[in-house]
Amino acid sequence: MEHTTPGQDASGIDWDQRYAEMDKLWSGQPNGALVHEVSGLVPGRVLDVGCGEGADALWLAEQGWDVTALDVSRVALDRAVREADRRGLKVAWLHAGLVEAALPEASFDLVSAQYPALPATADKAAERALLGAVAPGGVLLIVHHLPPTPEEARARGFDPADYVSVADVAALLDDNWEIEVDEIRPRHVTTGAGAHHTEDVVVRARRLR
Ligand SMILES: C[S@@+](CC[C@H](N)C(=O)[O-])C[C@H]1O[C@@H](n2cnc3c(N)ncnc32)[C@H](O)[C@@H]1O
Repeated sequence: MEHTTPGQDASGIDWDQRYAEMDKLWSGQPNGALVHEVSGLVPGRVLDVGCGEGADALWLAEQGWDVTALDVSRVALDRAVREADRRGLKVAWLHAGLVEAALPEASFDLVSAQYPALPATADKAAERALLGAVAPGGVLLIVHHLPPTPEEARARGFDPADYVSVADVAALLDDNWEIEVDEIRPRHVTTGAGAHHTEDVVVRARRLR
């Protein structure tokens, strides 16, 4: 049987298995880079790509954004829905992969992808879907962990080339975009499965037309 790494299966079965191993996988707090980059923006329509258990989507809804949040994992989305109900927050949750969701073009003022595990394909479908979802004047925010060294990746049982990186997305930013932030920053997360990561790669770009 072929081995699949979490995230390579657009049905989300692998991610469902990973989420199901724990009652709560991530910290439950909104990501620091999101809070930092978005706090100065006027709320509008936002897409949270790979929203997981929903901490970012719920924080965005609390800030007044009209939130659509998608993920391939039903297990993670069920947790997000429960927490939204508990807090009385409204979010449009989509159980779908980014590419498979086939969202309307240019329909979001902000597209946020925080540590997304998007499968890399030769046609760059995920990168194009991210860029294509942003409305003219809107912002794309993509944040990821620093790419692992080949040794680290081998030890963790995956090939980084299988996933879309921040650099893969940035490579498609042409004259229609202005790069507002392109940085590596310290990250301070003390709980959840991502706590061992200490640096973020952050790209924030505005679509000019
Ligand atoms: C590392 S987690 C990050 C979750 C969340 N953004 C956060 O920061 O807590 C990556 C997420 O991407 C989701 N995912 C994997 N493949 C996806 C795809 N093709 N489209 C959308 N989400 C996907 C996974 O289910 C998982 O929830």
